[in-house]
Amino acid sequence: MAKKHKSLSDYAYRRYRLAGSAILEEHGNPFFAPTDTLKAEIQARGNGHYVSFANYDYLGLAEHPEVKAAAHQAIDTLGVGALASRLVGGERSTHQKFEDDLAKFLGTEATLSLVSGYLTNLTVITHLMAKRDAIFLDELSHNSVATGARTSDADKIVFRHNDLDHLEQLLSEHREKYRNALIVVESLYSMDGDTVDLARICDIKEKHGAWLLVDEAHSIGVLGERGAGLCEYCGVDPKRVDLIIGTLSKSFASCGGFVAGSRVLIDWMKFTLPGFVYSVGLSPVITAAAAKALELMQTESWRIAKLSHNAEFLRDTAQAAGLDTGPAIGRAVIPILFNSVWETMAVSQHLLAHGVYVPPVVQVGVPKDKPRLRFFISANHTEEEIRQVVQLIVDRPVVEPPRTPFPGEQPAAAL
Ligand SMILES: Cc1ncc(COP(=O)(O)O)c(C=O)c1O
Repeated sequence: MAKKHKSLSDYAYRRYRLAGSAILEEHGNPFFAPTDTLKAEIQARGNGHYVSFANYDYLGLAEHPEVKAAAHQAIDTLGVGALASRLVGGERSTHQKFEDDLAKFLGTEATLSLVSGYLTNLTVITHLMAKRDAIFLDELSHNSVATGARTSDADKIVFRHNDLDHLEQLLSEHREKYRNALIVVESLYSMDGDTVDLARICDIKEKHGAWLLVDEAHSIGVLGERGAGLCEYCGVDPKRVDLIIGTLSKSFASCGGFVAGSRVLIDWMKFTLPGFVYSVGLSPVITAAAAKALELMQTESWRIAKLSHNAEFLRDTAQAAGLDTGPAIGRAVIPILFNSVWETMAVSQHLLAHGVYVPPVVQVGVPKDKPRLRFFISANHTEEEIRQVVQLIVDRPVVEPPRTPFPGEQPAAAL
């Protein structure tokens, strides 16, 4: 007979324990820090200033006066909420203007904005791919891609991370069995900061008659001289990519997602994509902030160059200090890998004690044996801040292993 839980709360308690809540009790909880309070406390202590490598404000636009002014003005003229799905409630002129400007910037025919980047991947993948279709995805795909693939009615075929020979082999073996095939890759992988050979992947998808979706969440405003993303970085015509998905939460310093592609694809989705049709439109405030960020990306393009410089500086300084930055190419996302979860947590807390916020990434979103501190770099960081954080890691105190091993890790005695 199946084991029944007393209540949902009892079930949740057990699952939370299994996920490792005990180690948080033993070692403190570095997650969900209220960053405004942290900043105020560190400034009040007077022994350092608060620096965050935890927020993906890549171009340093989140506090830009013009972005804030645009958001204020939108509140004054258009109100706060979109108040309905755009299909049934109508839209604001700013929606279409932003989407047209974004398409022009990316070099695609059209774009469509949605209220979340996560939702965009999920709804686009499940909408497009049905029974007798196959989705070929990288093993390190973001959860929004993996969940989209799992919940769609299509078969899911996983290739080894960035191994395009493996992708080719799987397409050769399986493509013929399916009606439609979709390949999904990320332009800058969110946990490792590496990228994919787009020209080769376009050749592969054309050879095998597949469609290609590139998740550019971390690469717009980051890759390429103009920040137009992976196509610009790799010198590939964006029209060779069937779907580009992006978010407004990173370089756009706002919130929301978008899908870019051909005009007919976007026109069709405007009437049929569930995450767009059955969900509210982007708030006018959010739209205004993102539109201003898009403008600043072009008028203050020095920010893109500064971001690249800072990221390369962090990668090079960390490597010179003997730290492991994995396969990161030196743009926006750079991990520093450690040998164990508890060491990663301890280093994170050591940094925080010195005013530097870099929460650990362990278990969730990364392989269990590859815990890390993941650094999001910003154009606003200074070389001094980067040097300081690397030095703090080098000088980290030796910590005792915890009594409670993290799930998936060996007990301390065996380490
Ligand atoms: C690769 C990737 N795709 C999609 C998303 C979801 O974007 P959002 O957080 O804006 O919903 C993320 C989140 O960071 C991501 O890393």
